[in-house]
Amino acid sequence: MTSVRRVALEILFEVHHRVGTYAQERIQAAVRAHKLNKRERRFLTELVLGVMRHERTLDCIVMAFSSVNWGEVEPRTREALRLGVYQLIWLDGVPPFASVGETVEALQDKRAKGFVNAVLRAVDRLVRRVPLAADRGGASPRKRLQIGDRKVCFFPKPVFADPERDLAAWMADVYAHPRELVARWLARHGPDTTRAILEKSLEPPPLFVRVNRRLGTREQLLDLLRGEDIKCGEGNLPESVRVLAPAGELVATKCFLAGRCTVQDETAMLVAPQFEPKAGQLLLDLCAAPGGKTTHLAELADDQATIMAVDRDETRLERLRESIARLGLKSISCMVADASDPAAVRGVTPAPYDGVLVDAPCSNSGVLARRPEAKARLAAIDLTELVAIQRKLLDAAVQLLFAGGRLVYSTCSIEPEENGDQVRALLERSPDLELEAEQETLPTHGGGDGGYFAVLRKKGQGLPTMTVAR
Ligand SMILES: C[S@@+](CC[C@H](N)C(=O)[O-])C[C@H]1O[C@@H](n2cnc3c(N)ncnc32)[C@H](O)[C@@H]1O
Repeated sequence: MTSVRRVALEILFEVHHRVGTYAQERIQAAVRAHKLNKRERRFLTELVLGVMRHERTLDCIVMAFSSVNWGEVEPRTREALRLGVYQLIWLDGVPPFASVGETVEALQDKRAKGFVNAVLRAVDRLVRRVPLAADRGGASPRKRLQIGDRKVCFFPKPVFADPERDLAAWMADVYAHPRELVARWLARHGPDTTRAILEKSLEPPPLFVRVNRRLGTREQLLDLLRGEDIKCGEGNLPESVRVLAPAGELVATKCFLAGRCTVQDETAMLVAPQFEPKAGQLLLDLCAAPGGKTTHLAELADDQATIMAVDRDETRLERLRESIARLGLKSISCMVADASDPAAVRGVTPAPYDGVLVDAPCSNSGVLARRPEAKARLAAIDLTELVAIQRKLLDAAVQLLFAGGRLVYSTCSIEPEENGDQVRALLERSPDLELEAEQETLPTHGGGDGGYFAVLRKKGQGLPTMTVAR
C-alpha cells in the first residue's frame, strides 16, 4: 500500500530543491503514478499544500522544540518535521500517534527517525490545543497561535517574534509570509487589511469554472456537474460556477472533458471581456499560455474572431493546445516567440491588431493561497527585473496595436510597481495611449485571487475591423 505521507515528503522535497517544480502538477502526477483513490488524493493535497502554506510558522515551532540548529538539519528531515507538526497542530481528524508514527516511518535514515520522533513527541506533549471559545485571553502573542476560527494553540515558550518590537516579523511568523512582503503591505494597507490578506492567503482558495456558453447555459452546466456527483453552485459572475470538489475530481468529469467549462478564477474572468470581443476582430495575446484568457476571448467572440496566441514557453503552449482541442475552438493559432521583441512577433503573425492582451509574468503576490511556492521567491522582494520585463512587453504591445485599438494589461500581483505605477509610466512614454479603466482586486474579496487589470486605448481611428487582410 502507498504511504501518502512518504509521497507528500517526496513532493515537498522536490518543490524546495528542484527548480521549476510546481506542487499542484506534482500532486496530479503522483495521484496517477500511485493510483491513489479519492480519499488518498485529498489527504495528499491537504498535506502538501498545508505544509507549504504554513511553512514559516511550522519552522518557528520546530525550532522552538529542537536543540539542533535549523541550518544543520538535513533537507528531508526538515520536510518530515514540517509534515509532522502540520498534522499535529492543524489537522483535527488525524490521531497524534498516526501523525508521529507514520511520518517517522516515511523516513529511511535511522538517526533522522529518532530525531524527528523526539521533536514531534515533544510538540504533541507540550502544546496545548483548545477550542477557540475556550481561550480566556491574556496569553503572550509570542506563545499563542490561532488556527482558523476553530481552535487555538498555546506554547510553553516564546515561538514567534515580539509584535511590540516588530509587528511585520510577528505577522510574518504567525501567517507564514516573508517579512519584507508583510512590511510593504503594512505600509500600504495598514494592519487590518494586511491581516485580512494574510488570513485569506492561508485558506484553500475557492475553485471556480467558467461556463462555455457556446455549449450551454450555466444552469445546464450546474445540472450536468451535479449529475456527476460534483457539488457546485452559482458563482458571483454570470458565467461563473463555484465548484465544491477538488480540481482533480472536476477535471475527470465527462462534462469537463467535453469542453463545457474551464477552470478559471473569477478575478481572471474579468480580463477578456474588457475587449468586448466580436466576430471579425484580430486579437493578439502576448503571454497566452496556459490559455485561460485566450480561450475566454475566443468563446466571447463565438469563435468568430482571429486570435493569435504567443508565448515563449513551448511546454506551456502545449497546455493551451490541449484546451483548444477540448473546447473545440477553431479561431486560435499558437506561436512560440519572445513577445518583448515586436519584430519577432510580426515575423510569426499579422499586425497591427484590434486588441492586444499582456497578461504579464509577475510576482504572483495576489495568488499566494493558490501558489504557495511563490512565497519563497518573494522573500527578498526585488521587483526590478519583473518590472523591466513587463515594461518591454507593454512597449511591444503598443507597437503591435491599431490606432483605435485596445491594450489590456493584467497581472496576478497586488504590488503597485507591477500594476498602477507600471501603467502610469507607460502612459508617460506613450502619449498616444489613454487609460479607459483599471481595477485592483485584493485577495480579501469573495471571489478568490488578487490581481489587476488596466484597459488602454490607442488614440486615433484605425482600419475598420472587417477590412483587415488575413
Ligand atoms: C501569467 S502567465 C499567462 C497566463 C495566461 N494568460 C492565462 O490566462 O492562462 C505569463 C506567461 O507569460 C509568458 N512569458 C513570459 N515572458 C515572455 C516573453 N518575453 N514572451 C512571451 N511569453 C512570455 C510565460 O511563459 C507565461 O506563460
